[in-house]
Amino acid sequence: MKDILAELHERRESARLGGGQKRIDSQHAKGKLTARERIDLLLDEGSFEEYDMFISHRCSDFGMEDNRPPGDGVVTGWGTINGRMVYVFSQDFTVLGGSVSATHAQKICKIMDMAVQNGAPVIGLNDSGGARIQEGVDALAGYAEIFQRNIMASGVIPQISVIMGPCAGGAVYSPAMTDFIFMVKDSSYMFVTGPDVVKTVTNEQVTAEELGGASTHTKKSSVADGAFENDVEALAEVRRLVDFLPLNNREKPPVRPFFDDVDRIETSLDTIVPENANTPYDMKELILKVADEGDFYEIQEDYAKNIITGFIRLEGQTVGVVANQPMVLAGCLDIDSSRKAARFVRFCDAFEIPILTFVDVPGFLPGTSQEYGGVIKHGAKLLFAYGEATVPKVTVITRKAYGGAYDVMASKHLRGDVNYAWPTAEIAVMGAKGATEILYRSELGDADKIAARTAEYEDRFANPFVAAERGFIDEVIQPKSTRKRVSRAFAMLRGKQLKNPWKKHDNIPL
Ligand code: HXC
Repeated sequence: MKDILAELHERRESARLGGGQKRIDSQHAKGKLTARERIDLLLDEGSFEEYDMFISHRCSDFGMEDNRPPGDGVVTGWGTINGRMVYVFSQDFTVLGGSVSATHAQKICKIMDMAVQNGAPVIGLNDSGGARIQEGVDALAGYAEIFQRNIMASGVIPQISVIMGPCAGGAVYSPAMTDFIFMVKDSSYMFVTGPDVVKTVTNEQVTAEELGGASTHTKKSSVADGAFENDVEALAEVRRLVDFLPLNNREKPPVRPFFDDVDRIETSLDTIVPENANTPYDMKELILKVADEGDFYEIQEDYAKNIITGFIRLEGQTVGVVANQPMVLAGCLDIDSSRKAARFVRFCDAFEIPILTFVDVPGFLPGTSQEYGGVIKHGAKLLFAYGEATVPKVTVITRKAYGGAYDVMASKHLRGDVNYAWPTAEIAVMGAKGATEILYRSELGDADKIAARTAEYEDRFANPFVAAERGFIDEVIQPKSTRKRVSRAFAMLRGKQLKNPWKKHDNIPL
């Protein structure tokens, strides 16, 4: 017995060393942690249960029969984050570059299957040279098995990808199908074809960082939802995100203890909207003042900044926030902001997270680049997402709600449950100046007449009361009491039951 125990100990120690001390040192020299160090930081101390530590590949080509490291380049299992279960896989770059073999994929698939069956999120820590070149089609088959599971798990359990090293070729498509992708600045990249292939095919000269680094994917492509300074920060932030999310689509999001007064009055909000309708203000201030303890977890902070998306808590309960940002492009909707917000709304709806929408939107951004880029179809994504969402929806119009964008932004007509407006709200087909110029084109030469017409239009529509008279706004509220009013609205909606008609699936304009 003693011998066997000693052998177990020895085997475990050898597996834990991965590709050996030299490669671990080289990983550290790049500013990266090892697969196991990352798991230790991600999970509650001592909570990790590892599976398949001794698995090794079955490849016998290219001398691989003599190189069969235990674990095969990925550490898998489950553990807890603040006491709540999550499944994890962490690719070990020190073992054959973390490359994906058939058995490596088999390990990942095993925990994905368990996660779906037992209802807990999967967190993938990606650091891999892609498909194991020596294995050929076996490696590709392994990837496809992972892809299929990503698809089946979508909307059932939250899936989170952290890119902590290379992620190239078809390998990017597994993270791409997960709910959130986070990257580590300067040490991670994602691309379908690398700089060398790009140079050969398109003659463009570009570095790996420029092509697929964290900055590119959080600011330009929107492939990634956030970027962090280093491994430690990234893992800490993933823990923070998990705290907002339900474990699966059958459970409600967690309710956390809160130490903030639900009835908190914020008098500064009474003056946040400037006198001049064209002067911007920071919508984030409103979000922070409404949230429990001012805690806001922003998603896609660096992309399409004219719309803000992220999670807050009200009375300890997770709420997804979507808000136009008047500071950027006057808060208008465009292709990028519509796509960003639509995906966020759909995530919230899939996981029963109520949605709070703050509206200050002058309409859709005009222009050929928008029209040629398909703003019709992309704008429709957000419209569709809001309209199909059955979770509690509370909307507050702070200022402008013009035109189609009024309809889109969780209006009453898209099954908004509680629709509030501040007294500063202006709900109209368009701004007064634009409206007058169309309605009274023949009078355009007469500045006094036009000014009078504009004032008349403003009097009629630059307020929330026409919409309130029709019941499209449930109540005109005082800005300072917004936290109290929206918290009470969500409390009232906790028992909401609403189902869409049966269908195989919808056909959202992709
Ligand atoms: C087998 C691999 C490997 C791979 C790296 N290694 N990638 N082994 N298959 N795909 C091994 C290296 O041989 C090396 O082994 C060790 O990992 C570390 O790699 P280095 O090159 O020394 O590290 P570095 O300089 O940091 O470069 C990392 C890298 C580079 C940029 C990832 O290794 C690389 O370009 N790898 C190939 C990437 C690739 O083309 N993958 C296939 C993509 S296609 P030793 O023993 O020397 O330490 C794909 C298809 C997916 O993934 C299909 C899904 C549809």
